[in-house]
Amino acid sequence: MWLSGLLYRLYAVKNRPIRNAIRGILYRLEGGEMYSATLRRIFKEYYEVEIGMYSHGGCFVPGSVGPGTTIGRYCSIASGVRILNRDHPMDFKSMHAFFFNPDLKYCHKYLTKQTPLKIGNDVWIGTRAIILRNVTEIGDGAVIGAGAIITKNVQPYAVVIGNPARVVRYRFRQETINELLASRWWEQDIGELKPYIDEFQRPYERSGRREEVSAEKVRGRDEQQDSACLDGQ
Ligand SMILES: CC(C)(COP(=O)(O)OP(=O)(O)OC[C@H]1O[C@@H](n2cnc3c(N)ncnc32)[C@H](O)[C@@H]1OP(=O)(O)O)[C@@H](O)C(=O)NCCC(=O)NCCS
Repeated sequence: MWLSGLLYRLYAVKNRPIRNAIRGILYRLEGGEMYSATLRRIFKEYYEVEIGMYSHGGCFVPGSVGPGTTIGRYCSIASGVRILNRDHPMDFKSMHAFFFNPDLKYCHKYLTKQTPLKIGNDVWIGTRAIILRNVTEIGDGAVIGAGAIITKNVQPYAVVIGNPARVVRYRFRQETINELLASRWWEQDIGELKPYIDEFQRPYERSGRREEVSAEKVRGRDEQQDSACLDGQ
């Protein structure tokens, strides 16, 4: 639609009230952030954050999610979540922004490394969780508890809480997780899922949603998680 295109171009004006107003109009015009294609275009172009269809919440607050982040489809991101993809240079003489941030005009490009982060599909990130720079991947279906500080990659369907965050369990049995990962159901639009919607609106595993994971099993998976983190660096 021509108005969406115009608002997208107008967003280039670096003025906070104008930008807030544009996002507000687009929100109403395109059925909210779960559906808006232009809000997604704006976040990709102006903030370097790619947000998949139907994902919603705190990821649409400018500055909350660091540049270089990709968020999958059907994710729920609570308010107050922060994703930090760049640190200050601890090994420079000074760590002040003058000495690494080109916006301040004392250098031509960023002198610190930005780490890209890939968040999978159907991920739920609880309120005020913080994801730190070393993290490169949050797997599909993962749950990040409220207030968690994430310092390592998170495996698909893991539930992680605390500071530093630890895996407390997995949402489903490994067999079910493998099936869900292979199905890639999130690639379908919500209209296509409608005929099967009852499958999504009750506990998925017959024995209930929880698999009590033995301490040993969690330790084993934590070790795998550690090496995934090292692989990602
Ligand atoms: C992570 C979460 C989903 C776990 O839910 P759950 O599996 O039902 O866990 P329980 O409530 O049974 O708690 C299990 C244990 O973990 C602890 N715990 C739960 N959530 C925690 C959190 N976010 N941080 C630290 N500890 C937590 C509980 O105290 C309990 O500890 P105990 O076994 O020593 O008593 C939930 O607690 C959470 O953080 N939800 C996010 C809510 C939110 O931010 N919503 C935003 C709106 S989208």
